[in-house]
Amino acid sequence: MVKDSLKIVDQRTNAEFEVPISKGTIRAMDLRQIKTGPDDFGMMTYDPAFMNTASCQSAITFIDGDKGILRYRGYPIEQLAEKCTFLEVAYLILHGELPTETQLQNWVKEITYHTMLHETTKRFLEGFRYDAHPMGMFISTVAALSTVYPDARNIHDPEKRRLQIARLIGKVPTIAAYTYRHSLGYPYVYPENDFTYSENFMNMLWRMTEPKYKPNPALSRALDILFILHADHEQNCSANVMRAVGSSQADPFVSVAAAAAALSGPLHGGANEEVLKMLDEIGSKDRVPAYIETVKAGHGKLMGFGHRIYKNYDPRARIIKWAADQVFAATGKNPKLEIALELERIALEDEYFIKRKLYPNVDFYSGIIYQALGFKPDMFTVLFAIPRTVGWLAQWQEMLEDPEQKIARPRQIYTGYAQRDFVPIEKRTEKTLTAKH
Ligand code: SDX
Repeated sequence: MVKDSLKIVDQRTNAEFEVPISKGTIRAMDLRQIKTGPDDFGMMTYDPAFMNTASCQSAITFIDGDKGILRYRGYPIEQLAEKCTFLEVAYLILHGELPTETQLQNWVKEITYHTMLHETTKRFLEGFRYDAHPMGMFISTVAALSTVYPDARNIHDPEKRRLQIARLIGKVPTIAAYTYRHSLGYPYVYPENDFTYSENFMNMLWRMTEPKYKPNPALSRALDILFILHADHEQNCSANVMRAVGSSQADPFVSVAAAAAALSGPLHGGANEEVLKMLDEIGSKDRVPAYIETVKAGHGKLMGFGHRIYKNYDPRARIIKWAADQVFAATGKNPKLEIALELERIALEDEYFIKRKLYPNVDFYSGIIYQALGFKPDMFTVLFAIPRTVGWLAQWQEMLEDPEQKIARPRQIYTGYAQRDFVPIEKRTEKTLTAKH
């Protein structure tokens, strides 16, 4: 009978060990028994960047990178993007089930009534320079909310958690819109409760002197779909940060701010802004082949391409391309689209990218849509952070409710000096520290 276990022979001692296999994994702690003697700490695993390490068990999002599959709580992203609103999907991700009509109505009302910011928070935003990067403003202001809601520290109280979750989902579009208005020097527009989540966001972004903003339904639907596509993505870099910071029992506001800081990196959520810079650098369709050659020669990356998990087309990129057509029908086609399509066409046929399984990811087309909607590239990652706040909060809540989880504190392989004695300053000579691996 096949046994779900690994038999390990330590050839240093000829000792044999049997380690149980569960869900395709072994527990790293089961390796600690493998020692060369009583003083040996025991075997650890070494996995820089967690290329092959499961940090948790999660029921929120499933990705099959080879097949290009993405599901939230078992539902295919394609069906959710087509049939749901963003807040409906947010409910699903956080609660595990699609809401009933009554549950959805109550949920929408709960979020809607948390869209306002305290006036002190608005004034906090005024402190930024006119040219401050919106992502820096977003991260700082979300963190500042922890000073407005000190009850958020009660992270073990489910009702307190639910209140902070509603506050964060309700307020991130308001903060995002205010960073945008601040960068333009425009007055802030207060949220209005008769709009949907995306309509209200558009209202706070773009209402000028008209008495009532009239959102374009095609654009608000496209934003809702973009929010759905960006809501969660299992243990990505920023979700890992959310879990790690949350594991110290920090409040959800500073944890979301930390996760947003991770998202801002150009290899993660900051890639959508970098894609537009890349398309601007290329400039025209006929210059695409030359640019691709520079990437293949090792000069920079094709931003918006490649993924740690997807070794096939990112299913979100496919849906975003469809959403782009809906937006361009309303806004006019973004000329950058033809450069992006040419870049994709050539890259998908080129052995360099095929061998490395590099396909367009969620960031490749999202920036082109955002630009067509009128956003400047430095707003793109803020637009990613709004919906991903839902995913971060779901991962945070699942971590807190997981009896196996505790404060995250990895081990290391020490490669520094053995013990050495203090050297008086007059006897020191200039040395440079070199990393020794
Ligand atoms: C997101 O994790 C998530 O789920 C993230 C995300 C989410 O929803 O949360 O999906 C959102 O962050 C999408 C990714 C956005 N980032 C970019 O588009 C930036 C460009 N992409 C790369 O930096 C890269 O593909 C990563 C960071 C996305 C993934 O990097 P990995 O998995 O660490 O892969 P790697 O860097 O080890 O690359 C393997 C090879 C290398 O070549 P060799 O050394 O083997 O010769 O592929 C090459 C890399 O140089 N490569 C690229 C490339 N990405 C990888 N070469 C050119 N262009 C690229 N974009």
